[in-house]
Amino acid sequence: MDIEQAPAMLVLGGTGSIGGEIARQALAAGWRVVVQGRSAEKLAALETQHGGRLVGIAGDIGRPGEVERVVAEAAQAFGRIDAAVDCVSTGAPGILGRFTETDPAAYARHAELSIVHFQRFARAVLPWLARNGGTLIAFISDAGIFAAPNQTMIGAMRAATIGFVRNLALEVSREAVRVHAVSPSYVAESASAQRMGSSRMEKAAHRAGLGLPTAADIAPLVLFLCGDGARKITGQVISVNGGLNA
Ligand SMILES: NC(=O)c1ccc[n+]([C@@H]2O[C@H](COP(=O)([O-])OP(=O)(O)OC[C@H]3O[C@@H](n4cnc5c(N)ncnc54)[C@H](OP(=O)(O)O)[C@@H]3O)[C@@H](O)[C@H]2O)c1
Repeated sequence: MDIEQAPAMLVLGGTGSIGGEIARQALAAGWRVVVQGRSAEKLAALETQHGGRLVGIAGDIGRPGEVERVVAEAAQAFGRIDAAVDCVSTGAPGILGRFTETDPAAYARHAELSIVHFQRFARAVLPWLARNGGTLIAFISDAGIFAAPNQTMIGAMRAATIGFVRNLALEVSREAVRVHAVSPSYVAESASAQRMGSSRMEKAAHRAGLGLPTAADIAPLVLFLCGDGARKITGQVISVNGGLNA
């Protein structure tokens, strides 16, 4: 395919473990990619590595107006956005652990970093996706689907995102836009895995009959959902967890 005609994917959090792998696999599959992250250095390194097919945009989506600016600049980069994937890691300090020990002062910030930025992302990017019939994907986590202790605040916001995704999917289907949520649980070799520590990861790996996925096992699902083969699928919440939860 002529590179000028190639579809364009915007990956928020594209300098992270999962977003980075999605960007790599999308480039290998012929997409042009715009990657957002906070680190200008990481983005510059990616641009050098991938030439004109990858554009990096630095921005902190926790700041007012930033999501909208990133979408506007991404659209300018290639003149189109055919897929928009949100892989920004979410959560404010003070929301992890037993609910009674979480910090009420952090709840609004957590909502902003968890679901509100995705709603603002959706609002900004939908007109672009509607031009060619594109796909919007939220990354959530299994805490939004399967109950577990110490994840009350995370699970609540992830569940809210699921409700948003499924309702929006029906609303925008007549514009040929598809909307999904992809749900990891424990992801081997990711930054979160490092944060969680080896003993928790080992226990999870023991429970996952298929073995814990890596980012490389998650990215193909995203490419499928954004591709023509998934043109009749929308509003789905798909967990990639190696058999940990069903
Ligand atoms: N990995 C797991 O085990 C796991 C499990 C369940 C769910 N998930 C979900 O899957 C998604 C991707 O996870 P991941 O493991 O790839 O995360 P990650 O490696 O921590 O990457 C996070 C990405 O988000 C960006 N980011 C973080 N805060 C930001 C902010 N305020 N503004 C702009 N960008 C920001 C980071 O940019 P910088 O590079 O500049 O820091 C990075 O690109 C997240 O929603 C995560 O919650 C992951």
